[in-house]
Amino acid sequence: MNAHDFEALLVPPETSVLQAMARLDATAQGVLLVVDAARRLLRTVTDGDLRRATLAGSAGDAPLGALPAQPPRSVGVEASLQDVVQCMDAHRIDHVPVLDAAGRVLDLVTRRELTRRVHLSSPHLGDDEAALVREAFDSNWIAPLGPHVDAFERELAARVGVAHAAATSSGTAALHLGLRLLGVGPGDCVLCSSLTFVASANPIRQLGATPVFVDSEPHGWSMSPRALRAALLQLRHEGVRPKAALVVNLYGQSALMHELLPLLDEAGVPLLEDAAESLGASLHGRASGSFGRLGVFSFNGNKIITTSGGGMLVGDDADLIAHARKLSTQAREPARHYEHVEDGYNYRLSNVLAGIGRGQLRVLQQRVERRREIFAHYARALRDVPGLRWMHEPQGHHATRWLSAFTLDLPQPRQRRDALLDFLERHNIEARPVWKPMHLQPLYAASRYFPHAPGEDVARALFEGGVCLPSGSNMDAPQLERVAELVLRGLRAAADAA
Ligand SMILES: Cc1ncc(COP(=O)(O)O)c(C=O)c1O
Repeated sequence: MNAHDFEALLVPPETSVLQAMARLDATAQGVLLVVDAARRLLRTVTDGDLRRATLAGSAGDAPLGALPAQPPRSVGVEASLQDVVQCMDAHRIDHVPVLDAAGRVLDLVTRRELTRRVHLSSPHLGDDEAALVREAFDSNWIAPLGPHVDAFERELAARVGVAHAAATSSGTAALHLGLRLLGVGPGDCVLCSSLTFVASANPIRQLGATPVFVDSEPHGWSMSPRALRAALLQLRHEGVRPKAALVVNLYGQSALMHELLPLLDEAGVPLLEDAAESLGASLHGRASGSFGRLGVFSFNGNKIITTSGGGMLVGDDADLIAHARKLSTQAREPARHYEHVEDGYNYRLSNVLAGIGRGQLRVLQQRVERRREIFAHYARALRDVPGLRWMHEPQGHHATRWLSAFTLDLPQPRQRRDALLDFLERHNIEARPVWKPMHLQPLYAASRYFPHAPGEDVARALFEGGVCLPSGSNMDAPQLERVAELVLRGLRAAADAA
């Protein structure tokens, strides 16, 4: 329901029974909201109310204000989706108006909307996955390793243009392995993007090393070359050479690798590329995830393709990737008996899940195209919203738009962001804030942080005003339109609330 359709539901108490019937027919929502001149809700009117009034002798030209009084059932702006459902169930109604503190109508939630939740990014299977999993069952290759794992590694490596790949049980496991393979250990310093999911930073700490967080640049939101330069200079001044730099490609777009890599190369710091969110993206024609000494992908359930859970460590160095395979299978030495020299993990992907991954890889390009279409739809629908700024796709980048993300460059951004998220949640739509940066997390409160410029904390601003919209490639056209319309209305309501 767009803003125009919503406004058509509001009628003054002077509206006659006949006019109300015609309006109910035209708006097809099954309810009208009778409001006074200040938009305060007086009552709701349904087909049933009009039928009962007519049977009780009301004339067609009787005003709605003369119908038997009925206390309006409604919720306040602070109500959750659960509150809305409770209100519907308790009063056996299918529509719940949402009112502000003054009793004015802001919104209407209908039971129809509650039957199908719109997710942020849910799994989207292709045609081949079930057959590939069947193959694993039929051949009894259920246990870890097997032909699907080998093939998935080969096929993914070919897709991103790297020589080797090792499939892991998660992206986090691949990051942990990657850091270890770059020699990260107790007492080391590792540079890390601050604006990211906590899984990027945790393995640094878990290896006994110290993360030093680096801010984002304001356009594409990935690691700021300016902040990285400042961090490298300062650390060099202190006599510290970071053991690695973990650069995150956010929301389906490569970081500015052509600017970051020369800085890292000059300082002799190897790059571990966290491409968990950017499979299928490219920069100047080169696949995201292929820029680092090592790169990491995730096949978690919310990613552009999924194995339900899984990851991949990629790189051109055959020895590093062979070592990753060994470490991820308990670091067993090549001996008949169980011989162990170094510390290992149980990090391999199972053959069954690799079968799903192979099927998913076949539809990756379609998934990228659909997510870009979804972004284009949002961008069109929201083009006139003042202060709304999308994550920018700079020249030379080809993003997947894994998540369509924008920030609100307006006063009180956090209040507006939360009002919008609450609004969407009441309509059973899952949207999320942009990642809360690591340097603002209690877990990393003691860590160092290099901002984009002195006094300019870009990651914090992106977090405070940033919203990720539902972007799953399996959203259908009516769902997409509904979300875009509700975002528009939710932003208006958020502006009123600010
Ligand atoms: C940037 C980033 N890094 C790492 C991960 C961890 O991947 P996984 O969930 O497969 O362990 C994720 C997502 O989950 C992520 O978004």
